Amino acid sequence: MSIDTNRTPQEYEVLSGGGAESAQMARRGITRRQVLRRAVTLGLGVVGIEGTYMALTMLYPNLAGQFGSVITLSNKSKYQSAAQKQVLIDQRGIFYEPSAKTYIMHLTKDGADFALQGQTLQNNLDASNWLQDQDGTYWLSLYQVCVHLGCKVPFRDDCVSFKCPCHGSHYNVDGEYLDGPAPRSLDRFTMSFDGSGNVQVNTGKLNQHIQRPDAQTRILVPPTVQCSA
Ligand code: FES
Repeated sequence: MSIDTNRTPQEYEVLSGGGAESAQMARRGITRRQVLRRAVTLGLGVVGIEGTYMALTMLYPNLAGQFGSVITLSNKSKYQSAAQKQVLIDQRGIFYEPSAKTYIMHLTKDGADFALQGQTLQNNLDASNWLQDQDGTYWLSLYQVCVHLGCKVPFRDDCVSFKCPCHGSHYNVDGEYLDGPAPRSLDRFTMSFDGSGNVQVNTGKLNQHIQRPDAQTRILVPPTVQCSA
């Protein structure tokens, strides 16, 4: 049956006993095929936008303030500096920060027993993510994970160094390899201070390139006390 496109949908409804929708479409010059095609196109568009959003969310997750991003810790004043031989976990010289999975080292200006001097020392400090503050003290942010097989490494006050409980890898207070099966020194994050003097750690940027030190690269002298076990 042909559709009289000059009638209103309502007139067509009365005359034909139904089909007002068809009449409306005919008046606009739209076929069912075109309507279906537009609906499919619209649906695909929505699916495409959702897919793109999910892909972007996976590629660029919002990690603000979480591990994997820059984490702002406490003010510098919380982290009391100490001489290398006198650090005590969470009291002076070395502090654990679980939110950033890091140990913050803070040594006094004259308390670091450097094994190197001059430009060689400075080059190694720079390459190892050491940060010297305006007051001359030294800072470093170490990742908590043992580079052998991934156990969390505790700091040991009895031997002023890190000793892994899994297979015995041993690291100096600045994370430098001392002995054990670990293939390199502890990994470290880039750290900085914000305008209010808070410590910031970029947990999305890990330096995994500090090799086992030798006479030309060892920054700190090893501790003289042995770990009790
Ligand atoms: S995981 Fe630390 S020594 Fe093996």
